[in-house]
Amino acid sequence: MTPRSQHWYAGTDRNAFIHRAWMRRGLPSDAFDGRPHIAIANTASDLSPCNSHLGEVAASVKAGVWEAGGVPLELPVPSLGETQLRPTAMLFRNLAAMAAEEMIRANPVDGVVLLGGCDKTIPALLMAAASVDLPAIVVPGGPMLTGHFRGAPLGCGTDVWRLSEEVRAGTLSQERFLEAESSMIRSRGHCNTMGTASTMACMAEALGMTLPGVAGIPAPDSRLLERAHQAGRTIIEMVASDRRPGTVLTRGSFLNAIVALAAIGGSTNAVVHLLAIAGRAGVPLTLDDFDQTGAKVPLLVDLQPAGAHLMEDFHRAGGLRAVLNEVADLLDGSAPTVTGRPIGEGLADAEIQDDTVIRRRTAPLQEEAGIAVLRGNLCPDGAVIKPAAASPSLLRHRGRAVVFDSIEDLRAALDDPDLDVDEDSVLVLRGCGPKGYPGMPEVGNMPLPAKLLARGVRDMVRISDARMSGTAYGTVVLHTAPESAAGGPLARVRTGDMIVLDVAARRLDVEPAGDELAAREPAPSSAHAAPVRGWERLYVDHVLQADQGADLDFLTGSSGSEVRRESH
Ligand code: FES
Ligand code: MG
Repeated sequence: MTPRSQHWYAGTDRNAFIHRAWMRRGLPSDAFDGRPHIAIANTASDLSPCNSHLGEVAASVKAGVWEAGGVPLELPVPSLGETQLRPTAMLFRNLAAMAAEEMIRANPVDGVVLLGGCDKTIPALLMAAASVDLPAIVVPGGPMLTGHFRGAPLGCGTDVWRLSEEVRAGTLSQERFLEAESSMIRSRGHCNTMGTASTMACMAEALGMTLPGVAGIPAPDSRLLERAHQAGRTIIEMVASDRRPGTVLTRGSFLNAIVALAAIGGSTNAVVHLLAIAGRAGVPLTLDDFDQTGAKVPLLVDLQPAGAHLMEDFHRAGGLRAVLNEVADLLDGSAPTVTGRPIGEGLADAEIQDDTVIRRRTAPLQEEAGIAVLRGNLCPDGAVIKPAAASPSLLRHRGRAVVFDSIEDLRAALDDPDLDVDEDSVLVLRGCGPKGYPGMPEVGNMPLPAKLLARGVRDMVRISDARMSGTAYGTVVLHTAPESAAGGPLARVRTGDMIVLDVAARRLDVEPAGDELAAREPAPSSAHAAPVRGWERLYVDHVLQADQGADLDFLTGSSGSEVRRESH
């Protein structure tokens, strides 16, 4: 088969001349003789601090590509810094995915190495790669090392939530809080909790899209560069074998990822991202698959936010392979991977090195830990909750709704001593879904009212159409679909209604129900939900609901890698 890049470079005509001439710049002419040209889709950016080291990772990938007889070509693609982007990085996940897809397809390359790290970057790259369907392998950038503050380890994100609540509760001084700031980010790499970045690196590996054993190698660890070098060799072999995402991403791979997600206590954001990636790959996957496949899986990994440890400990304890080995009976061991070998191969050798960090199957942290999918008159198309990060006593709860139309309304009311709320109340936030915010921000783990914090309350039932950070915790119902701005029943709830949550029964309902609820005037959408131009406009007009992965409706599926027309 003629290599794809030869459609640009082969021949003696004017266009081949143009394509080669501008690319030469010191390359010998046999660089264009049909050897594979490999894009390294790199999300390195100074404004994505978690990914800023990926240039060095790319250098190792390049060495591997050269060594295996290919030509490596770095392709900068949009990068999303979770902590920096307003109004939320999620607004731009589909933009990054669309741009990466188009640039991979439009260029003369035969395969692509995907370098990501911070939360949205690996999902966006996988969505892009699935839609182009050229051979592709992910190299995750790795988590940062554990920072310490006054002798105690600090978990990125998770400890920000915890410490800031302690300040509001009056149990931690503002000075101490600010002192912690310089200790949290100890090294290069992404968040060191089992937040979304760590989760999505594990998801990429569980899907078969990385070399085995790479997810969770700390960013400063030289073994990451060794794996990056190896990935450079592997992509050459993948091109030769025509091993594409379309052959790696099977339904079995996605169900494996769901099992892994539960066993690691991973981020709720993985639900939206996996649904979006499956949508690109044309693999049927629904919200109910998460419950049916994941709910009975035990929680084995004792990492923040669901537990105690951090990613450095996870890697030292054996990493994802050791976890997969413990739940091997729940996996489709025959699911393919980028190496051409099934994911189950060699898994039995992946031993747990520290069973306080990765528990054995016989002694899980929780028996049934997977993300639960709720239905009811408040969420006809579903909502999710992560029981592993919730208070067991609140998983069955009936309480009075206290409703906020925006996160700004909620923040303005939180410290009001006259706010009519107690620990049995249910905080309800709307206007924070994909269309409503827009972009479905990570505000679902709403801060608690100050007067309740002062009384020692540290968790309440909270319900929204938002997401929450993968580093967050609490009895938090998220991704309520349809969202309020899309006409979901959330728009009709009023303060004083009774909310009934029953996670064991997978129910979330509001009283009054039926005609009485339906007859109510919905709360108006915020002015923010009607952007007039640009990406936000395109996004709001086309974004799908959370239960469908919040991709744009015209981006689902694949266009393949063929480009029919010449440029000159
Ligand atoms: Fe980048 Fe957490 S902010 S991974
Ligand atoms: Mg996040």
